[in-house]
Amino acid sequence: MNIVFLGSPGAGKGTQAIKLSDDKGFTHISTGDIFRAELKNNTELGKLAKQFIDNGELVPDDVVVDMVDAKIKSLGDIKGCILDGFPRTLNQGKAMEGKIDVALVIYIHVDKQEIIDRLSIRRVCGKCGNIQPNSENGLCNTCGGTLAQRDDDKPEVILNRLTVYETQTMPLIDYYKDKFYQIDGAREIDEVYKDILSVLEKFNAGN
Ligand code: AP5
Ligand code: MG
Repeated sequence: MNIVFLGSPGAGKGTQAIKLSDDKGFTHISTGDIFRAELKNNTELGKLAKQFIDNGELVPDDVVVDMVDAKIKSLGDIKGCILDGFPRTLNQGKAMEGKIDVALVIYIHVDKQEIIDRLSIRRVCGKCGNIQPNSENGLCNTCGGTLAQRDDDKPEVILNRLTVYETQTMPLIDYYKDKFYQIDGAREIDEVYKDILSVLEKFNAGN
């Protein structure tokens, strides 16, 4: 069973996808994380993606679709994927038809101002990858590693990412209307997670 996590930058897709995959054995596929790993390894794909990511623009559809297609083919026998941040254009959604069955789409909704506040203080642990708001000592509250700010969490880039989301990604809400579940993401992380679990339970019950 494959699940798409849809939502604006900073809505909590990554936070919830990590919890759900750890807890229920899904394979977490974050296209943003894949690009950042490619960049760290200084690959051609990473260098190409950086030009778009640093400006808050989307990487071209054909590049992303080929990358996700290859990733899915490499996975073998798995319980299912959580697609975090993919698809994020109508073209990407349409291009994946027949390549992967999307069973449900969980849309995590958070207001724009809350998003800006969250992204401005977001940090990622360089050691364990934990996502959290900045801490007083700049260290990860899970493993003690050093926290870093993502290059695309600068104020002007955040605003462009939000515009790009509204114009290019929001049309997917209508495209997926038959398998679409909206969650209020502006609550405690564990409360949001509980709602996600109850959507999964309903879905398994055939609703
Ligand atoms: P990507 O890495 O996917 O970034 P994004 O979609 O902008 O989403 P974020 O990772 O910023 O937010 P999130 O929803 O995961 O929130 P998080 O859990 O971190 O993509 C980056 C770039 O790569 C794109 O801009 C694009 O250039 C490119 N790209 C990627 N995929 C692409 C595609 N398919 N097509 C084309 N280009 C693509 O949480 C955010 C913060 O809030 C954290 O600090 C967290 O601790 C906190 N938080 C989370 N939940 C809560 C809560 N309930 N209450 C309070 N705080 C919370
Ligand atoms: Mg993320």
